[in-house]
This record gives sequence, structure tokens and C-alpha cells, in this order.
Amino acid sequence: MTPSHILTILSLLLLSGVLVLSQDYEANYLDYDTNDSLPEDPRLSVPQQPDYDGQLMYSYECASECFCPSSYPFAMYCDHRKLKAVPNIPRHIRHLYIQHNDIEDITSKPFINATSLREINLSYNKLQSSKVDKDVFSILKELIQLHLEHNNLEDIPSPLPKTLKSLHLGFNKISKIPADATRKLTKLTVLDLCSNRLTDAGIKGKILSDMKSLMQINMCNNKLKSMPADLPESIQQISLENNSIASIPVGMTPNLLSLRMPHNKLKSVAYNAFNLSKLMELHLGHNQLFKPFFVPRTLEHLYLNHNDFTGRIELKDLNLSLMCPSLDLGNPNMLTYIRLDNNKLRGPVDYYAYRCFPRLIMIFYGNQRKDDEEDSETKKYEKPDRPKRPGGNKAIE
Ligand SMILES: *[C@@H]1O[C@H](CO)[C@@H](O)[C@H](O)[C@H]1NC(C)=O
Ligand SMILES: *[C@@H]1O[C@H](CO)[C@@H](O)[C@H](O)[C@H]1NC(C)=O
Ligand SMILES: *[C@@H]1O[C@H](CO)[C@@H](O)[C@H](O)[C@H]1NC(C)=O
Ligand SMILES: *[C@@H]1O[C@H](CO)[C@@H](O)[C@H](O)[C@H]1NC(C)=O
Ligand SMILES: *[C@@H]1O[C@H](CO)[C@@H](O)[C@H](O)[C@H]1NC(C)=O
Ligand SMILES: *[C@@H]1O[C@H](CO)[C@@H](O)[C@H](O)[C@H]1NC(C)=O
Repeated sequence: MTPSHILTILSLLLLSGVLVLSQDYEANYLDYDTNDSLPEDPRLSVPQQPDYDGQLMYSYECASECFCPSSYPFAMYCDHRKLKAVPNIPRHIRHLYIQHNDIEDITSKPFINATSLREINLSYNKLQSSKVDKDVFSILKELIQLHLEHNNLEDIPSPLPKTLKSLHLGFNKISKIPADATRKLTKLTVLDLCSNRLTDAGIKGKILSDMKSLMQINMCNNKLKSMPADLPESIQQISLENNSIASIPVGMTPNLLSLRMPHNKLKSVAYNAFNLSKLMELHLGHNQLFKPFFVPRTLEHLYLNHNDFTGRIELKDLNLSLMCPSLDLGNPNMLTYIRLDNNKLRGPVDYYAYRCFPRLIMIFYGNQRKDDEEDSETKKYEKPDRPKRPGGNKAIE
């Protein structure tokens, strides 16, 4: 390409008003990291209004170790009290906050009357699976939310009530999901298992697809080497960052909106892997990708930073005519943001990008590694994202 060609392309870029920013604008990029139109975390929140129930004469009964505010008469607060056991829970209590204590074991006894419980927060305790009575939770026929994150659980408590909609088990020592732990959870929408010890062998077989309402599954910071198979069709958000996953199967679940897989070991993905009709967000930073793949029309945010894409002006290996094989002006691609920094790309981005993705607001091009810089060093990958050279490699100067 001659200098005059480049100039023409640059002027076209400037005219089209698209921003191609260097790392100076990282702050802007952060703003784009979330998009309000992305699916809301379906996590239930504590009702803002007191949970009154006209029919019921509520009692002021409260465990002596705890606090039951009169303004929120169905809640019992027992958090941050160095408790070693769960106190007796009065019959009318629906929300039990008993996080940040020293509870290791749970018996059914304090729960015997607690048939109204809808929400339990037992996070930040010292629960051990061998010391949790089997039936503790299963007798709670109204339970919707269960927070057990930051404990020492080795297994998912089982059985759990089939009313459960959100189950938080992050930061435990769970290495497997037995089929009978999840089979009855047909109302579960959120399952959080980040920061555990899950392995491929631990989630083998038909264990996830029975959760027919599951929308969000988080398995970040585990030891997975492949994508969990057997995901139910209802899944919309998958978070698998920081595992060792090397490949992505073709034909993932059709309702997927968001896939987060940064910090894995993806080398190449099948050209068609993301040909999904609803996908909006794809995080594939910090992998070893070097081959382009088809970008679905619905995709809005694409993260390919810290990969091994190489090439010069035309983004040779990030072949845009492969990512976007046809232009359909009546039905344009929705991509607004793409992050490409810390690959080995050279020169300005091909104008075809903006024809193909007419809604592009920003390409974050940032710093690029040199051809001779090695990429397989894990050391490099652990460096903070902020590029080294201030004011370096701008795509447009
Ligand atoms: C967020 O998504 C909507 C479409 O759902 C789009 O119109 C909007 O431009 C996006 N915002 C940003 C900041 O990317
Ligand atoms: C359960 O309720 C009964 C009757 O109100 C009461 O006598 C008993 O002490 C309660 N048990 C527990 C464990 O809360
Ligand atoms: C549960 O407790 C944790 C730890 O204090 C807190 O961060 C979280 O917001 C609580 N969740 C709910 C739903 O109360
Ligand atoms: C990835 O997980 C390991 C533990 O499995 C942890 O030490 C490391 O900090 C995590 N890295 C990131 C980027 O989250
Ligand atoms: C994507 O999938 C649709 C239907 O499943 C198919 O018609 C189309 O050819 C696929 N696109 C590519 C680029 O493979
Ligand atoms: C990009 O892909 C198209 C379509 O497969 C091909 O014709 C073209 O030669 C490729 N360009 C480069 C630079 O590899």
C-alpha cells in the first residue's frame, strides 16, 4: 500500500467519525465495559419495603444473639457476631442474615420451625460439608436464595429445596457436582461456583441440563480444561474466566447473550463457533487466538486483547472479510466496541472494518507487541493490562 492510499484511508476514517483510540483513552474504554442493555443479573434483591403480610400477625420473637428490626419484621440479622452455631430461627422469619461468623457445622434443629425462610445468607463462615446435616435446607419449602460463598464446603449441599432460584457457592473447595445435587433445581436461575476446584471430571455427565430455568452460570477461577457440556438451553450468561479451557464447541446453547472466557488457553476456535442468534458480548482476552472467526450480527462487544493475532495494515490474520463475510446494509452488524490491544498487529485498521461494522464507536487498539516478543510466557499475561509506553502506537496519528 502506498502512502497516498494510507492517507485516503485515514481521511475516510476521520470523516466517518469513528474513534480509534490508543491507551490514552483507557478510561473511556472502561466506561464501555458495561452496557446497561446487557442482561441484568437476575439475582433477587432484598425487598426495599418491609415484607408485611396483612394476613399474618407477626411476632417479635427473635433469637437473643440476633437483631430483628421492627421496620423489617421478617428479617433476622445475626451477622458479624462470632457465632459458632445457628441460633433457633423463629417461625415467621423469612430473611436470615448470618454471614461473617465462625459457623462450622449446621444441624437441622435451629431450622425446625423456620418454614417461612426465603433467603439465607451464610457467606463468610467456616462451613464444612461433613458437618452440614443433610436435611437442613431441604426442609425449607419456601427457600429462594441461598448464599454459601466463602466457606470451606467440599460438596454442594444436597438435597436442596426445588424452590431455589439462586445459589451462591463461590470461594469454597468444591471439585465436583453430583447429578443428584442439581437434578431437582428446575427453578434455579443463577448458579455461582466461581473460585472452587471444579475439574472436567467433576462435572461430567448429565448434571446441568435438568436445571431448565438456569440463565446464569459462573464457573470462573476453577480448573476446567474444557467447556462444561450439557448446559440447558435457557442459559444466557456464562462466565468461565481463568480456567485452562483450550477449545469451544460449535453449537453452543442458542440463547446465549454473554460469554466471558478471558484468561484461558484458547488457541483457535472453529470458524462457526459463535454463529449464535443472540450473542451480544464476547470476552476472549488473554488467550492465544490467532485465527479469525465469524462475528454474529447481534454481537456488540468483542474483546480480543492479549492474544496472538499478527499482521500488518490489513490485519492480515484478523481477516476481516472472514469475520464479516457479507455486508447487509439493511441489517447491519451491531458491533460497537472492539478491543484489540496487546496482539501483534501493525498499522491502521482496515477501512473495511467500518463498512462491515457501521455501528463501531471504538476500536481500542492500544499497544501491540512486537513480532519477536514471545507470547507464551505466562509472566507476560499476568502483567496489568495497562500498556507500557505512554502515548505509544496510535492507530491514527
Ligand atoms: C448498548 O447496547 C445498545 C443496544 O442494546 C446500543 O444501542 C448502545 O449503543 C450500547 N451502548 C454502548 C455504550 O455500547
Ligand atoms: C419451635 O416452636 C415451638 C413452639 O412455638 C417452640 O416450643 C420450640 O422451642 C421451637 N423450637 C425451635 C428449635 O425453635
Ligand atoms: C450476603 O453477605 C455478603 C457478605 O457480607 C454480602 O456481601 C452480600 O451482599 C449478602 N447478600 C445478601 C443477598 O444479603
Ligand atoms: C486465576 O486463578 C488462580 C488460582 O486458580 C489465581 O491464583 C489467579 O490470581 C487467578 N488469576 C486471575 C487473573 O484471576
Ligand atoms: C450461521 O448459521 C446460520 C443458520 O444456523 C446459517 O444459515 C449461516 O450460514 C451460518 N453462517 C456462517 C457464516 O456460517
Ligand atoms: C481473507 O479472507 C478472504 C475470504 O476467505 C480471502 O479471499 C482473502 O484472501 C483473505 N485475506 C488475507 C489477507 O488473508
